[in-house]
Amino acid sequence: MSQIKILTGIDIVDIGRFEKALKEGGERLLSRMFLPSERSKISGQHLAGIFAAKEAVVKALSITRESWLLIEILNEPSGKPRAVVHADISYDVIGCDISIAHDGGTAIANCVVLVS
Ligand SMILES: CC(C)(COP(=O)(O)OP(=O)(O)OC[C@H]1O[C@@H](n2cnc3c(N)ncnc32)[C@H](O)[C@@H]1OP(=O)(O)O)[C@@H](O)C(=O)NCCC(=O)NCCS
Repeated sequence: MSQIKILTGIDIVDIGRFEKALKEGGERLLSRMFLPSERSKISGQHLAGIFAAKEAVVKALSITRESWLLIEILNEPSGKPRAVVHADISYDVIGCDISIAHDGGTAIANCVVLVS
């Protein structure tokens, strides 16, 4: 029987620095980091939260860094964020949950994944 494991990842983003980088990088950087589905709300705070969530998923699943377009962060109608992983991973994912918050100029996200 395969072993079930809990994996976690966390990331924190300085929203001001992130917005500055987006301004400097322009559309080219935006399209390297975010899928069209993630860009419905274009505020720096929202995008920083999505980026933190992508990094949290990368850490939990040990996916190669800079695989941002292979991780899609969506919002349920309630607003709750959800991750869809399009990357090849070496686990069978039983369940994955993410959470995002922003306050005091930072965005933070965590990811908890149950794998076998
Ligand atoms: C959801 C809620 C906890 C957000 O708290 P907040 O202190 O205003 O904001 P935070 O910075 O902590 O979190 C914001 C992030 O929470 C996430 N979020 C939004 N709605 C959520 C929900 N229902 N469940 C979990 N996470 C949620 C989003 O990622 C959001 O970021 P975004 O606005 O950039 O998309 C707050 O709005 C709340 O208590 N709402 C009432 C509960 C609710 O709406 N339940 C859903 C009923 S179906």
